[in-house]
Amino acid sequence: SPIPEVESLLEQMTVEEKIGQLNLLTPGGGIATGSVVSENVEAKIKAGEVGGIFGVTGPDKVRKAQEIAVNSSRLKIPLLIGSDVIHGYKTTFPIPLGSASSWDMDLLKQSAQIAARESTADGINWNFSPMVDIARDPRWGRIAEGAGEDPYLGSAVATAMVEGYQGTDLTAPHTMLATVKHLILYGASEGGRDYNSVDMGKIKMFNQYLPPYKAAVDAGVGSAMTSFNDIDGIPASANKWMITDLLRERWGFDGLVVSDYTSVNEMIAHGLGDLQAVSAMALESGLDMDMVGEGFLTTLKKSLDEGKVTEAQITTACRRILEAKYRLGLLEDPFRYSNEARPEKDILTDENRKLARKLAAHSFVLLKRHQNILPLKKNVKIALVGPLADSRNNMLGTWAPTGEHRLAVTVLEGFKNVAPEASITYAKGANITNDTVMAKNVNVFGPKVEIDKRSPETLLNEALAAAKAADVVVAVVGEASEMSGEAASRTEISIPDAQKRLIRALAKTNKPLVLVLMSGRPLTIEEEYELPVSILQVWHPGVEAGNAIADVVFGDYNPSGKLTATWPRNVGQIPVYHSMKNTGRPAAPVESTQDAEAFQKFKSNYLDAPNSPLLPFGHGLSYTEFEYSDLRVDKSEIGADETVTVSVTLKNIGSYDGAEVVQLYLRDVVRSITPPKRQLKGFQKVFLKKGESKKVNLTLSPDDLKFYNSDLEFTVEPGEFQVFVGTDSNAALKTSFSLK
Ligand code: IFM
Repeated sequence: SPIPEVESLLEQMTVEEKIGQLNLLTPGGGIATGSVVSENVEAKIKAGEVGGIFGVTGPDKVRKAQEIAVNSSRLKIPLLIGSDVIHGYKTTFPIPLGSASSWDMDLLKQSAQIAARESTADGINWNFSPMVDIARDPRWGRIAEGAGEDPYLGSAVATAMVEGYQGTDLTAPHTMLATVKHLILYGASEGGRDYNSVDMGKIKMFNQYLPPYKAAVDAGVGSAMTSFNDIDGIPASANKWMITDLLRERWGFDGLVVSDYTSVNEMIAHGLGDLQAVSAMALESGLDMDMVGEGFLTTLKKSLDEGKVTEAQITTACRRILEAKYRLGLLEDPFRYSNEARPEKDILTDENRKLARKLAAHSFVLLKRHQNILPLKKNVKIALVGPLADSRNNMLGTWAPTGEHRLAVTVLEGFKNVAPEASITYAKGANITNDTVMAKNVNVFGPKVEIDKRSPETLLNEALAAAKAADVVVAVVGEASEMSGEAASRTEISIPDAQKRLIRALAKTNKPLVLVLMSGRPLTIEEEYELPVSILQVWHPGVEAGNAIADVVFGDYNPSGKLTATWPRNVGQIPVYHSMKNTGRPAAPVESTQDAEAFQKFKSNYLDAPNSPLLPFGHGLSYTEFEYSDLRVDKSEIGADETVTVSVTLKNIGSYDGAEVVQLYLRDVVRSITPPKRQLKGFQKVFLKKGESKKVNLTLSPDDLKFYNSDLEFTVEPGEFQVFVGTDSNAALKTSFSLK
């Protein structure tokens, strides 16, 4: 229903002022991710030519910007103040792919609440997060920014983040408008190359890629950002089917839709016409706000005069932006988020950092355990080596523009904090990369990758000397922050060669070896996995990196993270994900989680590698062992509106207390369109003391059995459903029920 304050403003506005509201600018501030930056921002605000800005932080600066808007523009309309608060504001949490690996929705929601409290304390009221793009191609650098490959888990994460940012009252000073992005299918860009084209059938789209966006809409997200890619030949920022038919009409989204950075202008390069033409197309498709490119600002009036767009279209877009301002309480009080006393009270508090440390520890995935070397005793002699062991600039991870590297705890510092009794010798051992082209490309944006002046041999020898004198070697290796993220796609996703060489040499010393692996994506680590090593995947852990890593390495926290994206054996296997289909010529029986013994001609397999990935979706070990037994369903036959409760007994049979993520996978045995072999449909993180056991119940709702059929109806079909429960997507315990 119309909001009187908004309607009254609209009545007073000239068409130029309405177009002005559709303009989103950034005065800079080191966050420009395109070749264009905005000019004369202050003058434009005064002229009523700006609806929102981003890249301006601090209550004083935001107050100043609002004062310009409120005191100098004719209608005194305050600005939306945006920002990319992707994994925390100043208290930087792990990269989103890491946080999702905690499978702990409460922790994720708390992290979003903290991010909102800190951001709003610094004047920001509109967040360009959560990024919920499903990604099944680890070459794509932005896989780091999302929750991984799975629509069910991705939907849960999307909901938690939106609820965390927006709370239950958007006018409250510590909540902010969230933006679900990037609509749609950005994570499916061809070849994993950023900004590339996407071509996807509707069945796959609706069943596998759209659910997290829809979940964010269902959770009440206030804005949505379009993606850079085209969909069926129409770029997302002008895709009427996507913005109007799907998002607004089918899903009932009533918030504002903003373009990505100059994505309207980029339609010229896509080949759709000049700036006037593409801007008109974007408005007509239902796009409300134009980020940075000023196509709307500079051409819409002309298009209106020439009859190419209507004033009603401009008014509709303007209304949505004003409604967002109303929902945030800005129309009532433009200075609601400009409280100079708040930053000190709300930002980087001990509690916030405590949660960052906890979430980081929960996000780590023990990929491989070798001879119970982990956890380490706190009084041992350690060689702490590797280019990421004492590298403050690589702890926050990609796209943390509001974080500060100087605040991050290095691994070396964390070890000293948590194990002051330990004797620690640090040696760099290798550069992150010796590839000067890679280093040059990475160094275009964000923290730099330095190539040491010392020779690779000198670095290596120093590490080997430290290793020889130690009881145990911990090598902190992997990707620099900016080797993943936006415009950071790789065709090779292994540990860089310089570090591979270090790892090989360390393994030859026969000292117990732990790899602490950092990356913004799944890596191909077949060679390292074969070595006698333990491997702890820590992503880029955020501001409390070193402390959290030490907590886990020394056993104060038993790792419980699980992979949310499959780790391939090699790049040639991509895409490889857990919910693949059986095909008509499977190489192994449908229920088998193992590969066929050997290559089979005229079956769906490779000549040179198995089908199975190195590490499956959901994989993650613990210092303890869990045993699953007694899997049951409460009903063997149900009607379409009934729920099914699946129960399993989980027992901690190892020597440590610990948490396990119990995972439920479902197989719809026969249906009208080919089903995936199995799909995640439930999970629960359960903490058990050693020796303790617990009956875990997971509920399947009627919607969990549904899928989008050939007519794109969300429906369920009668027949058998097989249920698999276990520790990862290879879960072998099986039961079944049928739907009447
Ligand atoms: O929000 C981001 C988006 O994810 C990528 N392009 C730039 C935007 C604003 O910084």
